[in-house]
Amino acid sequence: MLQEKIKKAPPPSSGRSPSPSKLGEDWEAYVVPQEWESFSEEDHAVWDLLFARQVELLGSRVVSPFLDGIDLLRLSHPGVPDVEGLNAILEPRTGWRTVAVPGLVPDDVFFAMLASQVFPVGNFIRTRAQLDYLEAPDCFHDMFGHIPMLAHHDFADMTRHIGELGSAAIAAGEGHRAARLYWHSVEFGLAKEHGELKILGAGLASSFGESHFSLESGAVERLSFSVERAVNTPYKHDAFQPRYLVSESLEQTVAEVLALTAEEMLAL
Ligand SMILES: [Fe+2]
Repeated sequence: MLQEKIKKAPPPSSGRSPSPSKLGEDWEAYVVPQEWESFSEEDHAVWDLLFARQVELLGSRVVSPFLDGIDLLRLSHPGVPDVEGLNAILEPRTGWRTVAVPGLVPDDVFFAMLASQVFPVGNFIRTRAQLDYLEAPDCFHDMFGHIPMLAHHDFADMTRHIGELGSAAIAAGEGHRAARLYWHSVEFGLAKEHGELKILGAGLASSFGESHFSLESGAVERLSFSVERAVNTPYKHDAFQPRYLVSESLEQTVAEVLALTAEEMLAL
């Protein structure tokens, strides 16, 4: 369902596979040490290249709290960020922290992490030969795309709430509803800011090709955001989106999502 944007780890090293029926309760079993020391000079150089390229590409095309988060978290510091350094700034600010995972985690684990104010980041980075093609999200997508907005109190709170909605949706056999809500807000949402269309979602903010495409292409639909529309609008996980949901503001997205109860989501 969320396979391109959500981490899926192999069974924990203990060999004990978490039972799906536990709905993510074992999320800590998916956490691994980041082993920042094991990133090579080339890995750090790839981060620097991606960072410089994406910041220039985005310019002011992204909501301003994203740019504030980049500064606050000192993501412009050269090299792959280390998880502990990020957490030292992020956790006192919004209560969120990042943890390293080796790859995609199941949806129930991912939502349980969000509900616990924990964001999983890949413990690897793409190679120079794969700058624009990813089979699974790496630490550039996760750290550059997601973490800046988790320094924004209201957006961070909304993301936690989506985690809770996701756990409830999966328990009801309706996980796709929360996945769509997540997708059309946190990953691929657009939002107006002072009347201008801006990127809100991490999947767009971290994408070289889709960031401009989402804002400027005449070949896509841009529909007004509502939680009802988000929950009922399918998405593509392996191609540029054919439609984007546009909220009147970041604040509108946050307010609507925070007001949504699990029962309402399941009835939309
Ligand atoms: Fe993502």
